Amino acid sequence: MSDSTTNDTGPTTTPPAWWTTATVYQIYPRSFADSNGDGVGDLGGIRQRLGHLHDLGVDVIWLSPIYRSPQADNGYDISDYDDVDPLFGTLAEFDALTDEVHALGMKLVMDLVVNHTSDEHPWFVEARSSRDAPKRDWYLWRDPLPTGQGADAAGTPGAGSHPTAWRSAFSGPAWTLDEGTGQYYLHMFASKQPDLNWENPDLRRAVFDMMNRWLDRGVDGFRMDVINHIAKEPTSLAPGASHFVMGGQIHDHLREMHREVFAHRTGRELITVGEMPGVTVDDAKLFTAADRHELDMVFQFEHVGLDHGPASKFDNLPFDLVALKRSLSRWQEGLADQGWNSLYLGNHDQPRSVSRFGDDGRYRFESATLLATVLHLHRGTPYVYQGDEIGMTNAGFTSIEQYRDIESINWFDESVAAGADPEHLLEALRFRSRDNARTPVPWSGGAAAGFGTGTPWIELVANHDTVNVEADRAAGERSVFEHYRRLIALRHESPVVALGSFELLAPDDERLYAFTRTLGDEQLLVLANWSGEAYELDPALHPALRRRSVPQVVIGNVPGGAGLTLAPWEVRVLRS
Ligand code: GLC
Repeated sequence: MSDSTTNDTGPTTTPPAWWTTATVYQIYPRSFADSNGDGVGDLGGIRQRLGHLHDLGVDVIWLSPIYRSPQADNGYDISDYDDVDPLFGTLAEFDALTDEVHALGMKLVMDLVVNHTSDEHPWFVEARSSRDAPKRDWYLWRDPLPTGQGADAAGTPGAGSHPTAWRSAFSGPAWTLDEGTGQYYLHMFASKQPDLNWENPDLRRAVFDMMNRWLDRGVDGFRMDVINHIAKEPTSLAPGASHFVMGGQIHDHLREMHREVFAHRTGRELITVGEMPGVTVDDAKLFTAADRHELDMVFQFEHVGLDHGPASKFDNLPFDLVALKRSLSRWQEGLADQGWNSLYLGNHDQPRSVSRFGDDGRYRFESATLLATVLHLHRGTPYVYQGDEIGMTNAGFTSIEQYRDIESINWFDESVAAGADPEHLLEALRFRSRDNARTPVPWSGGAAAGFGTGTPWIELVANHDTVNVEADRAAGERSVFEHYRRLIALRHESPVVALGSFELLAPDDERLYAFTRTLGDEQLLVLANWSGEAYELDPALHPALRRRSVPQVVIGNVPGGAGLTLAPWEVRVLRS
């Protein structure tokens, strides 16, 4: 957190916040490294591999959830916020990890999942024990409607007794009847993930106390899971996302959180990022303006929704570069003077970025490094998802038995039951499933890929013999890791990368992603050929292309790249 503000000419009244030069690395613990041979990554594995992250030069590590959990949604269903799940290790190991991360000059950020708990959390166990339970109101309960006045389980209004026709993000209705007390509880995700009632002040107090305990323990901030879902419109649980995303109280809740958890921790460099499906540029300005004291930055979803068809996220549309440029540049402009962007192309919920936006075959190295360069040259805080720094690809699963993700499996089962062709569904999953990004990190060649000695909880991606950390780091000029390392260092060293203003060039070009970054009299020109064919630059694009002297290449992915021809998937950053 910081009180600083920046604009396109750099700092105004106070120095820029520390995270304007930082890069965050996301660890998905169960797939990172397994130290005890049970096939699931753990804290011991992370501790053994910290050198990899230190070499990469990242500033912050964000850990996906490691709390106690029945693992219905891989830890995003928490049954004890104050303990580490034995699957991952112990609190003592967590403390050791925190110390080691700090000793290496990095920070550690926890995932904060407080839109919902597990149904096995003692709060929910108590809440469902009776209608009069003291914690009953910590969750969202509704009476069944008289049959025929509510929705049915398929979401048809007027056909059942469900309080609304809301659907869970993981298929099926968002309401489940608690037989014991005869009321429905709300769950926007799985039925094992009941939503918390943020209107209840005691619940809010309990969450803030818990956050304070983690900060006291030494963690450096939080990535807040679906945090814009916490404020439901309490009076009208009517159908439609507008009632459960960004309810009226959301800004109040975040400001209260800031006051109760962060405000008094002056002198510490902390970071908060809120995951916010559906957030608009205007919302994000409010959430991230420094003087509003809500969040440092948000994860927006616009650019990762562009290839979703109308039917569902599994309705895959072809990639459209013009739409991507239009979207990302709107965010760059929108948050230029107020607020701050987070930058990402992949995470544990998205397909692998090189498979989705690049070419994961012939031009895997070139397109992985092009994507990284374009992203890291935007203004904002970049997030690197584990494995992207070596250009990992989608999983390539061909049977439903290979999948582990509750969202993918529920969608498959529901669609098969509705009569869909399983082969088509598998094809959609092959592109879109979250499991594409959840295969174990291959640290080396060989059968177990250096992940651990046990059978991994989910299969390794088939190309692990060639795409692995050891091979990539030994690849010299063709090391994706080395390219990421240079990009991260560039942000540390170069104020124009961190703070320069952004201007998109050639917005309608279907193959070229070009933009400038400007700070004072310094300017960088980014030229990216987003295609598998050579691209002829038009000298009219920018004066630097018309000069006799060859502009300095700050970073590129084709050795000796110069002149007006960009090789397939070539990216070049020029000092203009
Ligand atoms: C977020 C997480 C995702 C999880 C969901 C429910 O979107 O990133 O992995 O399934 O919230 O907690």
